[in-house]
Amino acid sequence: QAKSLFSYNIMLIGFMGAGKSTVSSYLSRLLEMEEVETDALIVEKEGKSIPRIFDEYGEEYFRNCESNTLTELQKKQQVIVSCGGGIVLREQNVENMKKHGRIVLLTAEPETILERVKDSTERPILNNNMNTEFISQLMDKRREKYLAAADIIVSTDKKTVPQICEELVAKL
Ligand code: S3P
Repeated sequence: QAKSLFSYNIMLIGFMGAGKSTVSSYLSRLLEMEEVETDALIVEKEGKSIPRIFDEYGEEYFRNCESNTLTELQKKQQVIVSCGGGIVLREQNVENMKKHGRIVLLTAEPETILERVKDSTERPILNNNMNTEFISQLMDKRREKYLAAADIIVSTDKKTVPQICEELVAKL
């Protein structure tokens, strides 16, 4: 890990389908940094899928898992953290992230988001709301929080993953 150019953690945030996981995996190879995903850590710890966690315990419980996972991750250095799309909903999470890394916001238009998420059933928030109207409304609701958290913003519309990562690294 010490080989990496960057001594801090890179926190990827943004709406569902903004490209966090895809960018994380490419970036991790490019920069030779370990990658972790808050959603994957939660699924592993709980032994249940995200839809099941939402279904059985509710969103609030999931958000608690998310905050706890983030706190656990404070111990790590030089990692790329791909965060669940709702991580910015709690101010405490954002403060936590700011202390431990550079926060990169990935953005995309609602139409792009829909294209990327429409075939998945893994996102309980979108499951009965697979349309651009819902996506764009939820995006509007969250926009200020995403922008306030971000150190760097990279749009992912109409770009290849290598292009996105090149732009991202140049801004880091
Ligand atoms: C959520 C985003 C999801 C996941 C959960 C809730 C959200 O992660 O954490 O379904 O509220 O935006 P992705 O952004 O990786 O899809």
